[in-house]
Amino acid sequence: MASASAVTFTVGTAPYLAYRGSSFPQSKSFGVRFNSQNHLKSFCGLKATSSVRCESELSFSGKEMSAALRASFASKAQNENQNIQYHLQPQASFKVAVLGAAGGIGQPLSLLIKMSPLISDLHLYDIANVKGVAADLSHCNTPSQVKDFTGASELANCLKGVNVVVIPAGVPRKPGMTRDDLFNINAGIVRDLVTAVADNCPGAFIHIISNPVNSTVPIAAEVLKQKGVYDPSKLFGVTTLDVVRANTFVAQKKNLKLIDVDVPVVGGHAGITILPLLSKTRPSVSFSDEEIEQLTVRIQNAGTEVVEAKAGAGSATLSMAYAAARFVESSLRALDGDGDVYESAFVQSNLTDLPFFASRVKLGRNGVETLIPSDLQGLTEYEQKALEALKPELKASIEKGIAFAQKQAIAA
Ligand SMILES: NC(=O)c1ccc[n+]([C@@H]2O[C@H](COP(=O)([O-])OP(=O)(O)OC[C@H]3O[C@@H](n4cnc5c(N)ncnc54)[C@H](O)[C@@H]3O)[C@@H](O)[C@H]2O)c1
Repeated sequence: MASASAVTFTVGTAPYLAYRGSSFPQSKSFGVRFNSQNHLKSFCGLKATSSVRCESELSFSGKEMSAALRASFASKAQNENQNIQYHLQPQASFKVAVLGAAGGIGQPLSLLIKMSPLISDLHLYDIANVKGVAADLSHCNTPSQVKDFTGASELANCLKGVNVVVIPAGVPRKPGMTRDDLFNINAGIVRDLVTAVADNCPGAFIHIISNPVNSTVPIAAEVLKQKGVYDPSKLFGVTTLDVVRANTFVAQKKNLKLIDVDVPVVGGHAGITILPLLSKTRPSVSFSDEEIEQLTVRIQNAGTEVVEAKAGAGSATLSMAYAAARFVESSLRALDGDGDVYESAFVQSNLTDLPFFASRVKLGRNGVETLIPSDLQGLTEYEQKALEALKPELKASIEKGIAFAQKQAIAA
């Protein structure tokens, strides 16, 4: 086991707060050591405002990840202008399952979440052989134990007692395919996997990555309802990648530090249903009409950019894994009692007349605590029009998902 060691590093409180719910973006954890304040500052461009003392960690990456995580706990409690020493002990106690873990997203996602000091058990499931991925990951000396589960007969064991289930299982988009082209394959996969979740870990947070998210989340909701275990606070369509892309593209365009930029993205997770609210960008920046149009379209079509660049070899996997890992980490922090976690997700919602809608949400131990309505207030004319324009498409995708699940239930 670990020998106790102490690490002191500097945390950029202000940017962290700007991102709340997103400790991954400033993940001081990747590729840098944290025993030097200067290293940290140069790595992530943080505005150093406080010092955090972390103790007793198990491993190289565990130490760094843990340090980043503990910084996230510490940051909200501290006065920005004070240097305070904290002694925090994150507990590796949560069980996470990745369904589709042998895939393009599943593998890097599993690696990233293997670094979390909050996870005691990491379960990897796939219909393809996932033993090799699990064996490989199990050699990383971070706290979680990795177990592999292959094929439907092992799914129940994979899910028993799990706190967070992440579902990237399915087929990715190929050039020329829309997200809706994926519907028939991925709809059935999500239905079957969520059925198993309902039977084996009905209280778990469920993160749906499989596309089309605009339809697969309503399918999951219907399945959970049919099983009598639907808790809308715990079902999430993962839209984090839209936010990550919006932040990145705006920072590039406006020559801003990536770590500082925060763009709310609302609506859904396909084409024009993805609506970046550029007028709400923090820090406040002004855009010409041409820039707004160009950035909005780029954010909406960013998935296609990757699909075309990969030329038949799949869709976004690495950036998706990063975004999904950030969402997992935020969920674990919320489960662990951090009362200040915000993320964006496609969830059951009453913010508009649509039953599901992506917005910022506050996460707590029981899932979504509050939807954040303020992003939808005071929209520009461009954003208001785009919001109205996306509604019919999003509504149709939601209804398609619901109809699929209901038809299946009647057939059964
Ligand atoms: N939400 C997002 O932002 C986002 C972004 C990119 C991709 N995606 C979606 O994520 C999904 C996965 O993409 P990928 O690139 O990893 O695909 P991939 O083909 O590389 O991997 C998918 C994995 O799922 C597994 N799988 C298939 N059916 C399964 C089942 N019934 N049970 C368990 N595992 C099963 C496959 O064996 C494979 O290992 C696709 O639907 C893709 O469209 C979502």
